[in-house]
Amino acid sequence: MALAIVVLAAGRGTRMVSAQPKVLHPIAGLPMLFHAMRAASSLGPEQFIVVAGFGAQQTTDAVQAHAPYAKIVIQDEQLGTAHAVDQARGLLVDFDGDVIVLFGDTPFIRPHTLEAMLKARRAGADFVALGFEPEDPGRYGRLVVEDGRLRRIVEAKDATAEELKIGLCNSGVVCADRKNLFELISQIGCHNAAQEYYLTDVVEKANDAGLICSVVTCAEEETLGINSRAELARAEAIFQNWARQAAMAEGVTLVAPETVFFAPDTRMARDVLVEPHVVFGPGVRLDEGAVVRAFSHLEGCRIRRGAVIGPYARIRPGSSIGEGAKVGNFVETKNTTFEAGAKANHLSYLGDAHIGAAANIGAGTITCNYDGVMKHQTEVGAGAFIGSNSALVAPVSVGAGAIVAAGSVITHEVPSDALALSRADQNNKAGGADRLRQRQRNRKTAAK
Ligand code: UD1
Ligand code: CA
Repeated sequence: MALAIVVLAAGRGTRMVSAQPKVLHPIAGLPMLFHAMRAASSLGPEQFIVVAGFGAQQTTDAVQAHAPYAKIVIQDEQLGTAHAVDQARGLLVDFDGDVIVLFGDTPFIRPHTLEAMLKARRAGADFVALGFEPEDPGRYGRLVVEDGRLRRIVEAKDATAEELKIGLCNSGVVCADRKNLFELISQIGCHNAAQEYYLTDVVEKANDAGLICSVVTCAEEETLGINSRAELARAEAIFQNWARQAAMAEGVTLVAPETVFFAPDTRMARDVLVEPHVVFGPGVRLDEGAVVRAFSHLEGCRIRRGAVIGPYARIRPGSSIGEGAKVGNFVETKNTTFEAGAKANHLSYLGDAHIGAAANIGAGTITCNYDGVMKHQTEVGAGAFIGSNSALVAPVSVGAGAIVAAGSVITHEVPSDALALSRADQNNKAGGADRLRQRQRNRKTAAK
C-alpha cells in the first residue's frame, strides 16, 4: 500500500516567545520538525508534505536543507488541524494509498509505532488514531472507545466532566485511506469552543458513514509535544538519554554518559571510547576502536579505526581521520584528510588539506588556506615532517618524505625528500647579551 505523510507545521508556537516558527527549534541540533520526519522516512513513503504557515519562508528554507524530498503547502490562516491537512488535498488528488498525519511539534514518534498503525489498517480498520495514557491527561483530546471501537474524539475544551475522566488521550497522529480522509474532512465544521476545524471530528463522521475506527497506543514519551523552551530543554534531555543508552548498548564506552551530546545521525562502531564532555554535531561516523578524548567537538567527519581525537580537538565538516591517526589538543581540522598513522598532536589549524600516511605535523603548524577571497589546498606527502610553527601558504605541496624546518613559511612546492628552510639565519654574537644589558642600564640612568 502506497503511503503519504502530511506533517502539520503551520502553528506559531506562541509560548516559545520566538521570531522563529516553533517547529524549527532544534533538538540535538536538528530542527524538531525533522525528527518526526526521520521516523516516518523509515516507512518509505511515496510522498512527504509539510504544511507551513507562520514563518513559512523559514520553514521552506529548512525543508530544502534537511528534507529536500518533501513538498510544501502553505496554510495562510491557522484555522485548525483539519483545515491544515486540507491544504494537502490538491497535491494528493491522484494519490492512491494511505495518509499518515504527523505533528511537527511532536518529535519522538517511533517508526515501530507508525508501523503498528499501518498494521491496524491492514487488519481492517478504516481510520486509526494513535492514543496514549498520560500521567496527566490535562488538555489533551480524549478518545471515546465503545465495544472496542473508537467512536469519537472530544477536545478537552469541549468535553463533559464525565468525558474528562477518560485516561486514553489523542496524540494527534492519524492514519486513513487518502480518499476517506479528505471526504470526511470536507464534512467538518467549526462549531466548537475554539471555532476551529478539528481533525479529531473526522472520527465521528467516519462512524456515521459506517467506517471502522480503531486506536493504537504508544508510550507517553513518544507523543511528547513541545510548546515552551522548558519543554524543549526536557525534550533535549530525553533525546540525549536515549542516544547515550543506545550507544552503550551497541558497545560504545561512555566514561561519563551524562556529559556527552549526540546528533540524531551519529554513527559509532563497537569499542569506540568517548571520554567526558564531548559534543557530536551532525554527520559524525566513528569506526571500531576510535577514541575521542575529553572536551572535543566533532561534526561532519569520519574517524577510522583506532584513531585518537583530542583532548580538546575540534574536527570540522569534511574531515576524514585515517586509521591510527592522531589529532591532539587544540588542533582544528576542516575539510582535511589524514591518511593512516598521520599525526598532528598539538596546536594546529589544518584546513583544505591532505596529509599523507604517517606524516608528522609539528606543534603550531598552520595551513594558510584562505586569501581573503578564495580557499586553497595544501598537500603534505606520506612520511613528511613539518617542523613546529610552520606556515604552509596554500596552494602549496610538500612532497613525500620531505622535511620542513621549524618556523618556516612555505610558499612554493617542496619536492619529495627535500629539506626546506625558509627563515632568517641565526647570528650569535659572543658576549653580546652583557653588552646589550649594560647599554640599557646606561640609558635608564641617563633618563633620571
Ligand atoms: C491537538 C489535538 C488533540 C491532541 C493534541 C496532542 C486537534 C483538534 N486536537 O490539540 O486532540 O490531544 O493535539 O498534542 O487536532 N497546526 C497547523 N495548523 C492549524 C492548527 C494546528 O498546522 O491551523 C499544527 C500545529 O503547528 C501543531 C499541530 O498542528 O504542530 C497541533 O496543533 P495544536 O494547536 O498544538 O493542537 P492541540 O490543541 O495541541
Ligand atoms: Ca499541541
